[in-house]
Amino acid sequence: MRPLNIGLSEEQRQGVTDLLNRDLSDAYLLLIKTKKYHWDVVGPQFRSLHTLWQEHYEALTENIDALAERIRMLGGYPIGTAKGFLEHASISEDAGSLPSAYGMVENLVADHEQVIRNLRDHIDQCGEKYHDQGTADFLTGLMEQHEEMAWMLRSFIEGQSIDPDGRLSAEGMRVPVQMK
Ligand SMILES: [Fe+2]
Repeated sequence: MRPLNIGLSEEQRQGVTDLLNRDLSDAYLLLIKTKKYHWDVVGPQFRSLHTLWQEHYEALTENIDALAERIRMLGGYPIGTAKGFLEHASISEDAGSLPSAYGMVENLVADHEQVIRNLRDHIDQCGEKYHDQGTADFLTGLMEQHEEMAWMLRSFIEGQSIDPDGRLSAEGMRVPVQMK
């Protein structure tokens, strides 16, 4: 790794760039899955999901560039191959399957939630283990974006009554029939 005089040791920068490369790999797989579902989705929710997934893949595309460029700022090199992304990602591809709109949303909620859990752990590691507050702050912003994307997706498949005090009512979950 190229020597840099920015107050972080080579070991610290290596640790952080390894985490960033894992986040980059997950973001790439999520981008591919989101685009594929944007193309494939059918059903009454087509317009909403098609449009939402375009917004999500545009955001993911920007985040991917920011992740790769942050790795370069720290003196490292981003993974830039499909093979490398597959090796380092924590979420898996959904190759060869064509889920229902409901299944697509469920899959993406699970993926975003996995990414949120990873980022939460990586933020802690960047701050406490590697003393890189800049990357911890950067990843916090990404995590907040994934939290919002997961909420938007979850809202398609959740339909639970809320009591006036804001708590979940005893009625339980109602899954929208047209999405099944
Ligand atoms: Fe499109």
